[in-house]
Amino acid sequence: MRSYNFSAGPAALPEPVLEQAREELLDYRGTGMSVMEMSHRSSEFVDIAARAEADLRELAGISDEYHVLFLQGGATGQFAAIPLNLTSAGDPVDYLDTGSWSQKAIKEAGKYCDVKVVGSSKDESYGFIPDPAQWQTRPDAKYLHICSNETIGGLQFKSFPEKSVPLVADMSSDILSRPLAIDRFDLIYAGAQKNIGPAGLTVVIVKKGLCGNARPETPTFLDYATQADADSMSNTPPTYAWYLAGLVFAWLKEQGGLEGIAKLNERKAGKLYSAIAASNFYRAPVDKPYQSDMNVPFTLANAELDADFLQGAQARGLLNLKGHRSVGGMRASIYNAVPEAAVDVLVDYMAEFEQTHA
Ligand SMILES: Cc1ncc(COP(=O)(O)O)c(C=O)c1O
Repeated sequence: MRSYNFSAGPAALPEPVLEQAREELLDYRGTGMSVMEMSHRSSEFVDIAARAEADLRELAGISDEYHVLFLQGGATGQFAAIPLNLTSAGDPVDYLDTGSWSQKAIKEAGKYCDVKVVGSSKDESYGFIPDPAQWQTRPDAKYLHICSNETIGGLQFKSFPEKSVPLVADMSSDILSRPLAIDRFDLIYAGAQKNIGPAGLTVVIVKKGLCGNARPETPTFLDYATQADADSMSNTPPTYAWYLAGLVFAWLKEQGGLEGIAKLNERKAGKLYSAIAASNFYRAPVDKPYQSDMNVPFTLANAELDADFLQGAQARGLLNLKGHRSVGGMRASIYNAVPEAAVDVLVDYMAEFEQTHA
């Protein structure tokens, strides 16, 4: 019996993907071994890797102008890899601050560059995204960094600004949840453990023209040009996570690609936000235009009821609804693989809890 898993990441994976992985676990297509046990240089794995990349390119409309890298080190590794690959010591770089993950990226970049925070909604508890017209960007910045979806705060860009310097986006928690206007970006990165696959894999989509100028001290495995030249196999890649990501991409294609999954995601999020908006008991902390379709934070009228709420949820198989420790309350992460039925059961439970506790 599988639970409804609202974890923020590592998060729910599509059930058909897990079933296929189980099917192929001991003997991958007659090879007599698991993908986990294969050399990354074997023709079978090289094939798995190439198919995953081709499917990702097709899903997201990624042209030949970009490298697609399958790396290790998490999105956190990219917080450092980006300045190391794209700048020289002390170069100006611009960052927008929309929450916890922006702040982590800013702090790391500060070790390598002259970072300017060009806008922030911190003083208003990150309830909105500052208007792009007000961002104090610098024309000589080497890039502008944004976080497209703040996983903890539940704040999401619904459209992206046109800017004159390269745009870099942390899309860890909303990549592949909706169609991607790839041309707007020069670099997109994401830890896999939400919409791509299991933890341990990091996807980087980077304009080829930005590669090849890494600082000499850049760790080799984080050097984009080195990894691109080696098809992301300059060192041993996270082979099993890469294989599972490939299964997820194939599954996504079956769901109607990014347009298909976006419709489902909008419907799921719409049900949850409508239920919150219609109640006097639950409250969403983020202003409506910026509410994330992936991570839905909400608070109860009385925080002393939180433990009861979570206990009742658990009894119904609704797991991992506790909000991040830094903000409290609840958070339902409803990534691609979380079925609509999970949201339906949650909404029913919320109504029932409100009736008995309001
Ligand atoms: C938006 C965002 N950025 C970065 C990270 C850090 O990712 P990792 O733990 O893979 O380094 C996370 C993790 O949840 C995230 O949600």
